[in-house]
Amino acid sequence: MSEKLKIAIQKSGRLHENSLRLLKECGISFDNGNDHLKIQANNFPLEILFLRNSDIPQYVEDGVADIAIIGQNLIIEKDKKIEEIIKLGFSKCRLSLAVPKNVEYPGLTWFNGRKIATSYPNTLKKFLDKNNIRVEIHEISGSVEIAPNIGLADGICDLVSSGSTLFKNGLKEVEIILESEACLAAKTDVDAKKKILLDKLIFRMKAVLTSRNNKYVLLNAPDKKLDTIKRIIPGIKSPTIMPLAEKGWSSVHSVINENDFWEIIDQLKENGAQGILIIPIEKMIV
Ligand code: PRP
Repeated sequence: MSEKLKIAIQKSGRLHENSLRLLKECGISFDNGNDHLKIQANNFPLEILFLRNSDIPQYVEDGVADIAIIGQNLIIEKDKKIEEIIKLGFSKCRLSLAVPKNVEYPGLTWFNGRKIATSYPNTLKKFLDKNNIRVEIHEISGSVEIAPNIGLADGICDLVSSGSTLFKNGLKEVEIILESEACLAAKTDVDAKKKILLDKLIFRMKAVLTSRNNKYVLLNAPDKKLDTIKRIIPGIKSPTIMPLAEKGWSSVHSVINENDFWEIIDQLKENGAQGILIIPIEKMIV
């Protein structure tokens, strides 16, 4: 049987949808209509395993899966033989300490001698040890935010994204322990044949991720401003410039970074650019 790469994906949870979308955008087609826990891609030597989030690092270390899409927070917490390959830019969150909103919080020493509920006992312990804070850690696997309300703990340590779960449970975030996002992770010793497949997948993922951060821009500019406009939107190598039918004007095509978008648009307008079109890019290989 020819070699296949095995990727572990969250069976359910926040990373699930985005992980599948990313694989599809990498041109990998599969049919997961029947709640199967293991499926084969149709056009890439890839087997997709749908696993419980917290079990994934162990499965990768054991070689049940070669690679995984998981949160950086989980790699840190589980401390297995698994390493981050590329950050994927979605499911951004932070692991934070939170306390009831009416607590007058003086700083980390507030936690001394108190009880903290968490699903991240290892990360929490390391953080507290480093800061010389002694607490009782109460490990629970879900619904952590309810712990202070039912008298199980004084505070919690859990993932925060929008902050809405904390708010709904009358808690406030007081310390950020780490920031995290989804990443592609792999076993530290992927074998050589699988490494070739992994490199192909990484190449495709990078093309998708780069395109998500960039936009194609087209505009009309007065010829006398072209030098300035070329400096504002230099593109990958240099912008494409073509004369318009109207004398003294050119069409300029380039690529801009999503983060610089508004600032660049303002500068373009100040330099006489008109008819500015911004178009999403599907894939980008630089
Ligand atoms: C996570 C986390 C928090 C919540 C925070 O749970 O454990 O409960 O998200 O998100 P928010 O700040 O946007 O409200 P998730 O729903 O992913 O499920 P889990 O309980 O299985 O971790």
